[in-house]
Amino acid sequence: LLHQKTYLVSGELKQWEGDIAEVYSTISSTEDYKPTLLGTIPQLTEKEALEALDAASAAYDKGQGLWPTMKVVDRIACMEKFVEQMKTKREEIVKLLMWEIGKNLPDSQKEFDRTIDYIYDTIEAYKQIDRDSAKFEKNQGVYAHIRRGPLGVVLCLGPYNYPLNETFTLLIPALIMGNPVIFKPAKLGVLLISPLLEAFQNSFPKGVVNVIYGRGRVLATPIMQSGKIDVLALIGNSKSANAIQNNHPKKNRLRLVLGLEAKNPAIVLPDADLDLAVDECIAGTLSFNGQRCTALKVLYVHESVVDDFNKRYSAKVDALKFGNPWDSDVKLTPLPEVNKPPYIKELIDDALEKGAKILNDKGGELSENFIFPAVLYPVDKSMRIFNEEQFGPLIPIVPFTDIEEPLDDMAASNYGQQVSLFGKDINTLSPLIDTLVNLVCRVNLNSSCQRGPDVYPFTGRKDSAFSTLSVHDALRSFSIRTFVASKDN
Ligand code: G3H
Repeated sequence: LLHQKTYLVSGELKQWEGDIAEVYSTISSTEDYKPTLLGTIPQLTEKEALEALDAASAAYDKGQGLWPTMKVVDRIACMEKFVEQMKTKREEIVKLLMWEIGKNLPDSQKEFDRTIDYIYDTIEAYKQIDRDSAKFEKNQGVYAHIRRGPLGVVLCLGPYNYPLNETFTLLIPALIMGNPVIFKPAKLGVLLISPLLEAFQNSFPKGVVNVIYGRGRVLATPIMQSGKIDVLALIGNSKSANAIQNNHPKKNRLRLVLGLEAKNPAIVLPDADLDLAVDECIAGTLSFNGQRCTALKVLYVHESVVDDFNKRYSAKVDALKFGNPWDSDVKLTPLPEVNKPPYIKELIDDALEKGAKILNDKGGELSENFIFPAVLYPVDKSMRIFNEEQFGPLIPIVPFTDIEEPLDDMAASNYGQQVSLFGKDINTLSPLIDTLVNLVCRVNLNSSCQRGPDVYPFTGRKDSAFSTLSVHDALRSFSIRTFVASKDN
């Protein structure tokens, strides 16, 4: 059991004596599938939230504080010290990823290692920005020495599905660019941040990293209402992002770095390599049980190949192994959100009532916190699964005859993150790609959707994102260009 008794504010690990919340895992340590108690976490109040805000504001001190004015080499040294200490926590954090959110062992290890790589890559990218800022450019007789400066105090809120990696894709670039941070971990995946508190404390000056625990409404609301937050960095859903940003009295001057929901489609054309399309769609729809913003959430398959595709795809879904995250070859695991299986069941029932069928034998089998992925066909616009982001193991297949059908749906959608396109004929693909890049931000040719490699821009149109992440883009998102102009070199 991990009883977290401290939180980090103003460089101090403060002891918490007030209310606590129990953290349960939906992974079962016994055969009766009872939730397992993993530990407890402080439930801080508005008072501690505002202390964290004061600490971060003092560290920024209107741009004159220690952190925003620190020399680049010294800021890098803090980050390097942190990452070295973080590396010693691999085993503990990987174990917590499996228990807290049910991520399988290889993916949990990948999440940790990818985060370490991300930190090193960010340090290198930051060094490049620094080298570039030493150069002058001349336009219309004016020399300019262009640099990048910090924006201010950042409130950072991460998601449960990548509580370490995606949260750190906000936290790390925000920090290295000179912005102090108030960080509230996600509700699920909260314990796994605990092993890092001392590393934060040892590596960064007072007030630069503040880690607070508790309910978003209790903590984030007063922090935003203070008007002292300069950047809201959040990965989650647009509804909560809107609610949180609306608390800011000057929300028009708030910088937003938001990664939000998506309903990424796959489009399988008549000449697609079906074996490849099926394998990529399996990975795209069901990695981490479909709980990824980049997951494929609707499959459009041309009517000429849909029967063949459905048969092969459904058989492969049924062959996926379910188990605890540490079991070998396990692809499907219990869902960490207790309300997710009944929600998925509701979507299935709605589609069945409106004429869809479950194609795979095991589809929809429910036991406690696990629901076996269901392949629904044929799905149409009248069904909830067509419109809602399921964020779980449910796969709607929509047959199409004319390519304008999926394109029209994508244009009408509130989301615009990525698409997967399966086909061979370059004369068909080429103009289609030109159309698709204006509907989403990444077209994956004959491959499933994903965020990485992390050097590529990760963003979306409409309600899918605001601002861009990636090793390089995130540094831009968390900074502003400033320059010194002179008529002399
Ligand atoms: O949940 C959204 C993540 O950005 C997905 O990342 O494509 O690397 O799994 P991923």
